[in-house]
Amino acid sequence: MVKSEEILVLINSRRTIRQFKQDSISLEDLIKCIKSAGLAPSAANLQPIEYLLITDSEKVKAIFPLLKWAGYIAPDGNPEEGRRPIAYLIVLVNKSIRKTGVEHDAGAAIENFILSAWSLGIGSCWLASVNREKLQNSFNIPDSYSIDSVIALGYPDESPVVEMAIDDIKYWKDKVGVLHVPKRSVKDILQINEWKKDN
Ligand SMILES: Cc1cc2nc3c(=O)[nH]c(=O)nc-3n(C[C@H](O)[C@H](O)[C@H](O)COP(=O)(O)O)c2cc1C
Repeated sequence: MVKSEEILVLINSRRTIRQFKQDSISLEDLIKCIKSAGLAPSAANLQPIEYLLITDSEKVKAIFPLLKWAGYIAPDGNPEEGRRPIAYLIVLVNKSIRKTGVEHDAGAAIENFILSAWSLGIGSCWLASVNREKLQNSFNIPDSYSIDSVIALGYPDESPVVEMAIDDIKYWKDKVGVLHVPKRSVKDILQINEWKKDN
């Protein structure tokens, strides 16, 4: 029986990881996460989201230059040499199932995947700034599919910290290289029963 508090700790402790240990991840664990992704909510239960998992080390290397990392602090947020992802999940939309309005499905499936991975100790970075054209060509992905995003994977080699956003939501790195991730407070994002905000 899963304790609900443990689920909250899991969800709240998840942070985007951009520095990775070089240990391999078992295919079995990755497939468990794909199973969770496939069980996510889907509009009309159409399930247009599919995946191309890349674990081959040469192919993993080839993907790296096609991705843009941590725009607010570039190039300091880039995975360092020797701390790069060891696998990628290319998230695909099967356009023969659904062409438009797939973003909610993709988001739900990806979050399921990322949280399942985190529960197994696997870190990830969800990347939308990717060179879709080159990825599509390099992996011979047919035109009937589009690339939603890419999930970089590996065991975490950094421990980003969350903090309350005061004026700025931009993440930043401190002197010792710890990534700080400001989040808006509940008071800033929630109103109950009546509208009280100025705008
Ligand atoms: C849709 C989406 C696209 C993202 N694209 C990128 C990206 O291209 N490159 C990157 O380094 N991080 C990317 N991220 C990660 C965000 O920068 C990260 O989630 C944010 O800084 C908050 O950090 P947290 O995930 O630790 O809460 C993306 C996140 C989402 C949800």
